[in-house]
Amino acid sequence: MSVLEAKQITKIYGDAKSESSTKALNGIDFRVDEGEFVAIMGPSGSGKSTLVSILSGITEPTTGSIDIGGKRIDQMDRFEMALFRRRSLGFVFQEFNLLDSLTIKENIILPMVLDKKETTKMNAKAAEVMKLFDIENIADKYPYEISGGQQQRAAVCRSLVNDPVMVFADEPTGNLDSKSANAVMNCFKKMNEEKNTTILMVTHDVFAASFCKKVIFIKDGRIYLEVASKGTRKEFFNRILDCQAALGGENNDF
Ligand SMILES: Nc1ncnc2c1ncn2[C@@H]1O[C@H](COP(=O)(O)OP(=O)(O)OP(=O)(O)O)[C@@H](O)[C@H]1O
Ligand SMILES: [Mg+2]
Repeated sequence: MSVLEAKQITKIYGDAKSESSTKALNGIDFRVDEGEFVAIMGPSGSGKSTLVSILSGITEPTTGSIDIGGKRIDQMDRFEMALFRRRSLGFVFQEFNLLDSLTIKENIILPMVLDKKETTKMNAKAAEVMKLFDIENIADKYPYEISGGQQQRAAVCRSLVNDPVMVFADEPTGNLDSKSANAVMNCFKKMNEEKNTTILMVTHDVFAASFCKKVIFIKDGRIYLEVASKGTRKEFFNRILDCQAALGGENNDF
């Protein structure tokens, strides 16, 4: 069953008639099934962030339709969209985006607080996700008191509290050292395998991508290649590297 279905997505930044406009996406058809864990890779400027921000309702496409969980998000107004994002989608960004004035637990339940959920329900949910990712010991700390890896694991917890239809991540390991990146990717893997959460992640990082079930390469605003995981993670890692090399050519700046 598909969770996300996008058809003929294009995005032009700036006035289409002007020479200074940029065609960031060039007719992308895209489908994500329930329980998938997909990485989007591609050279810098190929349109990865634009694609994810359109698919998650942050940016409006120039043309095309997007259906998530049976809802046409491209037809929603700004208010409906904001509500849908808060209630039905999870987000993890490169910069963690935790509020410094709130504890880790308060940050994690923030989406539920905004939705005015009952306190007992919020506490139970926070306990559940913090236990899943093994960060109960930092529940009462503030973001500036913990490591980047721990902050990102808290952000992963926050993305899950509303039982989202799917989770979007843009370069979630971009600011992390390799040990923290490993811990964060294991959290994503766990939420995909144990909670069957559907995840779409943009990354430059072959190591991070090797945790996924599928990698989609985009280049010049188009889908170029799709590779499914088989064998061990190490084997998949090597295959992703090979695909990058084959695709890279003279513009290989992955
Ligand atoms: N807000 C914007 N206004 C104008 N042009 C933009 C804007 N955002 C992105 N672009 C352009 O659209 C193209 C795709 O950008 P995008 O950020 O989606 O690439 P990316 O694949 O995420 O790159 P990176 O790997 O560097 O993050 C680029 O040419 C970029 O300069
Ligand atoms: Mg980007």
